[in-house]
Amino acid sequence: MKIAMIGTGYVGLVSGVCFSDFGHDVVCVDKDPGKLARLKAGEVPIFEPGLDDLMARNVAAGRLSFTDDLAAAVDGAEAVFIAVGTPTRRGDGHADLTYVMAAAESIAHALTGYTVVVTKSTVPVGTNRQVGDVIRAVRPDAEFDVASNPEFLREGAAIDDFMRPDRIVVGVENDRAAEVMQAIYRPLYLRDFPILSTDLESAEMIKYAANAFLATKITFINEIAALCERTGADIKAVSKGMGSDGRIGSKFLHAGPGYGGSCFPKDTRALARIGQDNAVPMQLTETVIKVNDEIKRRMVDKVFDLCGGSVNGKTIAVLGVTFKPNTDDMREAPSLTIVPALVGNGANVRVVDPQGEREGAALLPGVTWHDDVYDATGGADAVVLLTEWNEFRALDLQRMADAMARPAMADLRNIYSEPVAQQAGFTAYVSVGRRDGDAA
Ligand SMILES: NC(=O)c1ccc[n+]([C@@H]2O[C@H](COP(=O)([O-])OP(=O)(O)OC[C@H]3O[C@@H](n4cnc5c(N)ncnc54)[C@H](O)[C@@H]3O)[C@@H](O)[C@H]2O)c1
Repeated sequence: MKIAMIGTGYVGLVSGVCFSDFGHDVVCVDKDPGKLARLKAGEVPIFEPGLDDLMARNVAAGRLSFTDDLAAAVDGAEAVFIAVGTPTRRGDGHADLTYVMAAAESIAHALTGYTVVVTKSTVPVGTNRQVGDVIRAVRPDAEFDVASNPEFLREGAAIDDFMRPDRIVVGVENDRAAEVMQAIYRPLYLRDFPILSTDLESAEMIKYAANAFLATKITFINEIAALCERTGADIKAVSKGMGSDGRIGSKFLHAGPGYGGSCFPKDTRALARIGQDNAVPMQLTETVIKVNDEIKRRMVDKVFDLCGGSVNGKTIAVLGVTFKPNTDDMREAPSLTIVPALVGNGANVRVVDPQGEREGAALLPGVTWHDDVYDATGGADAVVLLTEWNEFRALDLQRMADAMARPAMADLRNIYSEPVAQQAGFTAYVSVGRRDGDAA
């Protein structure tokens, strides 16, 4: 099949590469000249494990190419995917559909023959019908259908998630579009990965409902963690005890510094707005947004307390600033709340992150970037473990403590424990949801 993929970000690029690996002919379109130049040179512009090899293989096989010529990519394509960004619209929390609608208009001009225009971007209920209206207004003669195909991949595990999905959701209006979508996903369908075929509105709603639910689960455990700190319970035991219940499940039950990233913050805000617009306020989601903001601020207080109430003039090493490990994505990372609060209050902040500097350099002004953890922590007054990259899971804590001016650690991912830190020579240790300090 011939497929055009509009937008080569985290979702568009992974989807385009994986579709080409299924054997389809894929042309990926982007309007960012810098990104395109790198793609054409065989470079992957984002950090996503495994993507470079898979991309190179399919380019070499002649099934995958990159262009800024949307019209040429759409010409003759059986399916055109819209995978452009849908960020929060400034001022009101709505999903900004400017990029989606601009793409729809360009696609409309370029349509030849019967085409299914598929929205992969996360979009509010009703958007696919609007995409159809935009295309019809530009090209009343065009022969096309719209389809909704929300994406559930996780950055850092994107290829595996795409190739071995829990489910594929497809919203369509008729059998003709359904057949095209089935043909695209046939390799997965043949391997028994479930395809849920539904209407446009349900497909759009599934994506927001799923993300809001996961954000709620994280926020729930973070709130329980705060209560554990006051009551003497241990959040790790509580998470395990809760998560072993098959009705609850253990995923998304790890206490930490609050959710961030390219999806949960903007999608929860958008769902809250959709609720308000439809006079059905999403009260749970609205509360989750508020509590998550408070959790991030609570983390700042933890670091201040660890430093004796003030960070002014203190040197603080921060390990990990991307919103989660195995990605270079900094969008709405908790570090963007925590690090500026430290810098703004007079701390000298040193940052180590395996992939964060390219994006983070502009977002975190006033910090110094280090490649080596022991270099960054040497002579420091505190170390803050913020993103749980594998590199930070087995540190030589004794070596670190020995070289710090004041061995104090804020372990905001609960990787270590107070006894382990103390044994290594740390004189102060705080984590999330545990009663640190009692044993000191
Ligand atoms: N990032 C994730 O993990 C993830 C997961 C599931 C769903 N989503 C959803 O997928 C969508 C895309 O997210 P992303 O993180 O890949 O975004 P992104 O910002 O990384 O990439 C979007 C790309 O689209 C390009 N673009 C915008 N308008 C264009 C146009 N008219 N023609 C050609 N290219 C254009 C941009 O240059 C950019 O490269 C969003 O709706 C998001 O909510 C993201």
